[in-house]
Amino acid sequence: MKALSITLLGVITLSAATKLTVADFGKIPSGDPVHIYTLRNQHGLEARITTYGGTIVSLKAPDRNGVTADIVLGFDSLAGYLDNPSPYFGAIVGRYANRIGHAQFKLSGVVHKLAANNGENTLHGGLHGFNQAVWTSRPLPDGGVELSYLSKDGEENFPGNLRVTVTYHLSDSNQLQIDYVATTDKVTVLNLTNHSYFNLKGAGEGDILGHLVTLNAERYTPVDAGLIPTGELRDVNGTPFDFRKATPIGARIEANDQQLKLGKGYDHNWVLKGSGKTLRLAARVEEPASGRVLEVLTTEPGVQFYTGNFLDGSIHGKGRKVYVLRAGFCLETQHFPDSPNKPAFPSTVLRPGQQFHSTTVFRFATSVRSKK
Ligand code: BGC
Repeated sequence: MKALSITLLGVITLSAATKLTVADFGKIPSGDPVHIYTLRNQHGLEARITTYGGTIVSLKAPDRNGVTADIVLGFDSLAGYLDNPSPYFGAIVGRYANRIGHAQFKLSGVVHKLAANNGENTLHGGLHGFNQAVWTSRPLPDGGVELSYLSKDGEENFPGNLRVTVTYHLSDSNQLQIDYVATTDKVTVLNLTNHSYFNLKGAGEGDILGHLVTLNAERYTPVDAGLIPTGELRDVNGTPFDFRKATPIGARIEANDQQLKLGKGYDHNWVLKGSGKTLRLAARVEEPASGRVLEVLTTEPGVQFYTGNFLDGSIHGKGRKVYVLRAGFCLETQHFPDSPNKPAFPSTVLRPGQQFHSTTVFRFATSVRSKK
């Protein structure tokens, strides 16, 4: 497939609802062109997605008074993403999102050694993950955008040619749906997610500690000092990890809890309720002042709730705004970290002849102002 030529495509109205446009977003150093798609629905919701890393560059959503803000962290131009890969702002993460312990795993009797890019562990696919790839793209007749990438056999030392397709659809019911499909020609492992950092007040408008979070989970996977799960599925009851009822992110984040200290805040995988592959609610987040609400639905078994603990004010994002400590939160729908080395966790193995499929939906709404 050839990359889409923007001269062929200006504005296409694919349904009464969603409007799709495509534009130039610069070139990577090797000269490959990068594009950016804009999806807009009838309710003022707008998502911009670039072919560099499949990254969600901006997401504009109205508040309860109809005032729109960009609610994801990121950069105005491609240069920002090229210069700052490590926060993974908005990107598709792969081949293995999250961590693999001791930078290796054994599969069918063969040990695969990976790059240790996070202490002694592998994080988010290694040195050159899917977030740094230029994806092939095409607009879909139904108003969506399709991105595809061939991760070659041996890339970052993962086995098998992995063909990945990710589609984005924005509906008039205010849902941004992401579908991931993958096939391989050798047995391999994979874990795919989107790494958007949300701030429902608006990106760069301070921290997210006042956001109210609900997680549909009774257990989480505690970690060791390298943030690798110990293998235990721990009950959240009576701990700062209990988000079964809406709770401000900041309410317990500084509690005297060993797991919070290891993560420098929340940086853990929650075990979502409900088994199998059905799409169900993973999380709901509400920002009380603006009334913006984000709901996350997924077919994945887990979600990494990460509260931007490694942001430190050194990054200037869109509009030169400073991204302070905890300027955004991520809800990375996923299989559990280090699953290739944890046989009791849901399997991340993909075999030739199988098709991997996973769906995550970001749904946007507003709440009514609560009476004082
Ligand atoms: C990880 C964090 C990491 C962040 C950015 C998250 O998925 O859990 O530990 O700092 O990604 O790389």
